[in-house]
Amino acid sequence: MRRTLRDVKRIALLGATGSIGRQALEIIAGHPELELVAAASGSQPVDGLAPLTQVGGDLTELLERAQPDVVLNAVVGFAGLPATLWALESGVDLALANKESLVAAGELALAAQERGGALLLPVDSEHSASFQCLEGRSPASVDSLVLTASGGPFRGRSADDLADVKPEEALAHPTWNMGPKITVDSATLANKGLELIEAHFLFGLPYDRLEVLVHPTSIVHALVRFRDGGALAHLGYPDMRVPISYALTYPERAATPVPSLDLVGLTLEFHAPDLEAFPLLALATEAGERGGTAPCVFNAANEVAVEAFLEERISFADIAEIVAASLESLDLSPARDVEELTASDEQARAYAQGALSRA
Ligand SMILES: NC(=O)c1ccc[n+]([C@@H]2O[C@H](COP(=O)([O-])OP(=O)(O)OC[C@H]3O[C@@H](n4cnc5c(N)ncnc54)[C@H](OP(=O)(O)O)[C@@H]3O)[C@@H](O)[C@H]2O)c1
Repeated sequence: MRRTLRDVKRIALLGATGSIGRQALEIIAGHPELELVAAASGSQPVDGLAPLTQVGGDLTELLERAQPDVVLNAVVGFAGLPATLWALESGVDLALANKESLVAAGELALAAQERGGALLLPVDSEHSASFQCLEGRSPASVDSLVLTASGGPFRGRSADDLADVKPEEALAHPTWNMGPKITVDSATLANKGLELIEAHFLFGLPYDRLEVLVHPTSIVHALVRFRDGGALAHLGYPDMRVPISYALTYPERAATPVPSLDLVGLTLEFHAPDLEAFPLLALATEAGERGGTAPCVFNAANEVAVEAFLEERISFADIAEIVAASLESLDLSPARDVEELTASDEQARAYAQGALSRA
């Protein structure tokens, strides 16, 4: 990791106006050793947030100018891909909230990391937790990795019950306060599906050693079962400032304003997810197992369908229908380069747009 003489980490924050971005600004402001050198958004103004700023366009131009020590990629969606690949290829440490880029381009991202030698520090809370439990141990020592899911606002509801739920109900998440796209993904469990694929790439574990359990209070973020019969879990109140701070101050583990966990009276509940009511979880696993451009197609169709659901153009149940139809109908390929992947993303978006009118 390149550092200045004062051992200050120079951060480029992409997605500075979003839920993760705003919490990252708070963490950076609280740590004199973190310096914000660049900030970007998609459309909202970011003037004055950092010496270098950019709204929309190719974010790698901003990164080239800023030459940061760490990129915090908190852009939402596939739009975050060029910045993820830029950081990994350039050997600049990447704090990654933008799970969609790793889901869509996992193999390309890992190859870029291999060439660039950068650290890839997950900001997604479950992956930050898993990273800490695993501490670089080899996949061979792991029996399985459990990612927990709060179950979202519709936990316990049947598929019939869910057919006509409205965006405002889907946006009322019980434990996390997040941007609209990931909040809807949490309600459909597509988010947990994206996280399974993200974990597969981050930790080198096959899908049959990745597990999802519903844990309504979101206190346990992940648990790793090791081959010796022991298990390590990461616990804490659900607050994204913890994984953001962990990634930005790694390996220091700096203080945050988040209170430590009160264990008295704490009970922990876990259930198997309902794959019938929430078909996107199984569809994501299937896409992950198929590999190549399948996760990219899953992600693109889901992004289009979630946006249409938020605009009340399709029903909640249609989101999964559109993703399933896209995966069934489109030709998949091995995702050999960014051009192939971008073409697959565009093709899946076009297919899903067409499917909206048939929904
Ligand atoms: N929120 C959470 O608690 C949480 C937890 C785990 C993982 N994540 C992941 O973190 C990422 C961000 O989530 P979020 O909840 O913070 O989303 P959000 O609140 O919707 O914020 C998204 C950010 O991305 C920017 N953006 C969108 N399109 C862009 C583009 N084409 N170029 C540059 N910037 C663009 C937005 O800028 P504008 O404001 O200008 O549109 C905004 O700053 C997602 O991948 C999500 O899955 C979030």
